[in-house]
Amino acid sequence: MNYKEALIHPIFKVISKSAQELHLDAFVIGGFVRDFLLSRGDAKDIDIVAIGDGIQLAKQVAKNLPNNPNVQVFKTYGTAMLKYKDIEIEFVGARKESYTENSRNPAVENGTLEDDQNRRDFTINALALNLNVANFGELLDPFDGVKDLKEKIIRTPLNPDITYSDDPLRMLRAIRFATQLNFVIEEHSLNSITKNNNRIRIISKERIITEINKILESDVPSIGFILLEKTGLLEHILPEITALKGIDEVEGQRHKDNFFHTLEVVDNISKHTENLWLRWAALLHDIGKAPTKRFSKKVGWTFHGHEFEGSKMVYRLFKRLKMPLNDKMKFVQKMVLLSSRPIVLAQDLATDSAVRRLVFDAGDHIEDLMTLCEADITTKNPRKFNKYHNNFKIVRDKIVQVEERDKVRNFQPPITGEEIIKTFNLKPSREIGIIKEFIKEAILDGKIPNEYEAAQKLMLEKGKKLGLKTSSEDD
Ligand code: CTP
Repeated sequence: MNYKEALIHPIFKVISKSAQELHLDAFVIGGFVRDFLLSRGDAKDIDIVAIGDGIQLAKQVAKNLPNNPNVQVFKTYGTAMLKYKDIEIEFVGARKESYTENSRNPAVENGTLEDDQNRRDFTINALALNLNVANFGELLDPFDGVKDLKEKIIRTPLNPDITYSDDPLRMLRAIRFATQLNFVIEEHSLNSITKNNNRIRIISKERIITEINKILESDVPSIGFILLEKTGLLEHILPEITALKGIDEVEGQRHKDNFFHTLEVVDNISKHTENLWLRWAALLHDIGKAPTKRFSKKVGWTFHGHEFEGSKMVYRLFKRLKMPLNDKMKFVQKMVLLSSRPIVLAQDLATDSAVRRLVFDAGDHIEDLMTLCEADITTKNPRKFNKYHNNFKIVRDKIVQVEERDKVRNFQPPITGEEIIKTFNLKPSREIGIIKEFIKEAILDGKIPNEYEAAQKLMLEKGKKLGLKTSSEDD
C-alpha cells in the first residue's frame, strides 16, 4: 500500500532529500501515521526513524530548511527535535532496545526498522511510511496494524509481558488509547496488564497523570476508569476512587455504589464541559464518602461532612501525584466542598437568600458548580430526575436575578473597615469585624440591598447597639 497523500506537507520532501544526501533510510512512524489513517485531523507531532544516526539526520534537515531551525539534541536518548512552523519533529535512530528489570535506562543497540517497530507499544503505533525517494509513501506494517485499526483493537506487537516491561507506562497508554479511540484491548494485551499492574509503581507520577488527564479529556472517560479498575491499575494510582466501590447492606438498607455513580457523573459532565479541572472535580466529588460512611438504625447510611473531608483529601491526592498545588487544585477543592449545596436547593424551591449565599460562596465558579451538580443527578427515577432538573433551571434563573440586584458574586463590602474606624473613631478592634460581618449577613439574607446608603444606616444602628459613639457625638 502507498499513502503518498499522507505526506503532502513540504517537510517530508525535505526529510527525504536529507536522508538521501546522508545515504540512509528514513521513515515516519507512530502517531502521525495512525492518526492519518484514522482521519484524526492534522498531527502536530511527527516522529521520524532513521536507519542510522537520527541526530545527524535532524541536523541535515535543519540545514535544508529555509529558516535553519535550531536542533535540540537529547544525547542520553539519542534523539533530536526541531520545530518547523507549528509542527514538532522528533528524530531517532532505529534501535534494538531492552530495559533492565528495575530501571528505565535502556541498553541500546542500533537496529533495523523491523527492530524498531518490534519495540513499539502497539500494532497501531508501529505503522511506518517510507520517506526514501524510491518508495516514497510506502506503508510498512509488519504486525497488521491497519487491520487492528479497522477492527478497533489495541494489541502489543510482541508478547505483552515484554512490551509492558520495556515501559510499564504502556499499560496505561493501552487504556488511554482504548478510551480516546473507543477501541477494545485484545485479550492477552489486557490480561497482561492485570498480571503486571504493580509495575506501574516504577513510573513517574508526572507521566501517569499525563495519561489520566488524557483519559479524563476523552468523550466517555468511564471507558478508561472501568478498565483501570478491572486491571487493578486504579488501586495503585487513585485508591480514593476504588474505595468508593461496592454497596453495603445492613438491615435491608443499601446505599448506591459510589464508584459507578462517580463514573456516571464524569461522563455526564464531559458532555457539557471541556474543562479538565471541572472533570477532575467530578471524579473526586464523592471521595470523602468512603471515610465518612456510617450506618445508623434510625436514618440508615450517612456520609456526614463528606464534602469537607473530600476537599481535604483533594490536597493530599494532588500532592501525592505531583499535580499542581495552585489555583487549579483550589478550584477542585472548592467544587468538592460545595458539591452538595445546589442539590439541596433543587430538592425544594430555593429561597432568594439561599441562592444569594450560594453565589457568595461559589463566586466566579458558580456556573461550574451548577454544571457539576446537574451532572450529579444520576437518579433512575424519572419523576425525581425531572423535578431536580426543573428546579435547577429555577435556581439558575434566580442566580441571574439575585446577581443583577445584589452583586454578591465578587462581593465587595459596601462599607470598608476604614469607614467604620473613621465613623466611630475606633482603634483596630473586634467591633470593626462584627459590624462588617453584620452588614454582609444582612445583605445575604436580603434584609438590605447591597448598596451604600442602606449599609451605612445599618452600620450606625449596629454601632449604637454595640455602645459605640460616632465621631460627631464624641465632639
Ligand atoms: N511509543 C512507544 N512506547 C511509549 C511511548 C511511545 O512505543 N511508551 C511510540 C509509539 O510508536 C508512539 C510513538 O512512540 O506512536 C510516539 O509517542 P507519543 O508521541 O507519546 O504518542 P502518539 O502515539 O504520537 O500519541 P499521542 O500524541 O496521542 O500521545
